[in-house]
Amino acid sequence: MESRYDSLRRDAIRIYGSILKDQQIFDSFSPVEPDSRGWIQEIVLGSLRYRTRIESLIRFYSKKQPPKLKAIQFLTLAGYQVLTAKEEHRAKAVSQWVELSKSELGKNQSGFVNFQLRRFADEKVRADFFSDEKPDWSESEFEWYCLPKWAYEKLKKEQGEAWVRDFALSSLEKPTTWKRNLAKVESSLYTAGSELADNEIIQGISSQKSVDLVSQSIDGYSGKTIIDVCAAPGGKAIAMAALGGNVTATDQNQRRLERVLENVNRVNLSINVKPFDEAFTGEYELVWVDAPCMAFGTLRKNPEAKWIRGEAKLNELFEVQIGILNRASGLCTDNGHLVYTVCSPFQLEGGTVVEHFLENHPDFKLDKKWRVALNEYEGAEGFQGFLLSKSSSNSS
Ligand SMILES: C[S@@+](CC[C@H](N)C(=O)[O-])C[C@H]1O[C@@H](n2cnc3c(N)ncnc32)[C@H](O)[C@@H]1O
Repeated sequence: MESRYDSLRRDAIRIYGSILKDQQIFDSFSPVEPDSRGWIQEIVLGSLRYRTRIESLIRFYSKKQPPKLKAIQFLTLAGYQVLTAKEEHRAKAVSQWVELSKSELGKNQSGFVNFQLRRFADEKVRADFFSDEKPDWSESEFEWYCLPKWAYEKLKKEQGEAWVRDFALSSLEKPTTWKRNLAKVESSLYTAGSELADNEIIQGISSQKSVDLVSQSIDGYSGKTIIDVCAAPGGKAIAMAALGGNVTATDQNQRRLERVLENVNRVNLSINVKPFDEAFTGEYELVWVDAPCMAFGTLRKNPEAKWIRGEAKLNELFEVQIGILNRASGLCTDNGHLVYTVCSPFQLEGGTVVEHFLENHPDFKLDKKWRVALNEYEGAEGFQGFLLSKSSSNSS
């Protein structure tokens, strides 16, 4: 008889396959049973974090005949669960996955699946798998560090080898979520599932940290007219409004903009949420561009970002980022500020965008920049932030 876990595993297989094939993020999938989301998330996101390390191990133990894609994906999820299962559950996990393989991959594959999963259950293999040193069975650095080759090479060139290794290993850790208490204006650790008070919002620390860093540099938000042109789901806009800013929020994605409205209503703050087409008029003392990016600063939370966006997307986003920054800069008052942030470590999405912008906008200058890597402190998410100011039109 099929157990509840068989149907959860089938869901996990379906979602994992679709993320990689259709380049969708995990959050865009709804599991069949909503209360099973946590179980599926653990298996799917864990497998995505360790994807190429697990695939190396599968290849190592199937030298004679490399398995087909469907079997690799099945074994990746099964392998991850066996590697991370508590000792008392491990043998059962192996036998349940082997049983499921009969219907998912065909009866003739169950012997092979059994052989593979017994390797994953082996104590020495597990110890090697979770060590920081690359063992012999892993063929390449980038696979061991679980980054796509292009990203590993690019970050190594930009930041150095020790940095990229540390970054990659840190991104394998599970994420930490933060909550900001809007009344007290402070952030603290949030435990998944615990209830939020009316005046609390949760978001990654990178999002909230940049709000605090900019605040310290511009003498706070209180009373200032502010527009956040990439606002969804609203974390920064809400934080700035809670700190006294007179905030307008917009986003190109209408569905995501509705989420801003829901979040704003939940915390009972006054924010002017405007449709994107109507937002680009008027002047603001602070214009914030929290641009769409490769999101490699949030790999702990969104490990799929490693596999669903290639180098071509990095170049494509550069054009989008420049476009938004150019357009948004027109909203900035004389002597006002323009902030550009991305949750990404790539040079092209950060300094290069800003340099390009400044070359074409002599009326702006760079006042400050920040670079926080996800391996910099515990629970961090990586981001780059740039604070620009606009000179007065009378000063030239
Ligand atoms: C990093 S997220 C913003 C996060 C948000 N500021 C917060 O703190 O919660 C980037 C946002 O930019 C939006 N976006 C994408 N392309 C855009 C464009 N060309 N113009 C404006 N917004 C865009 C996306 O819909 C997405 O909501």
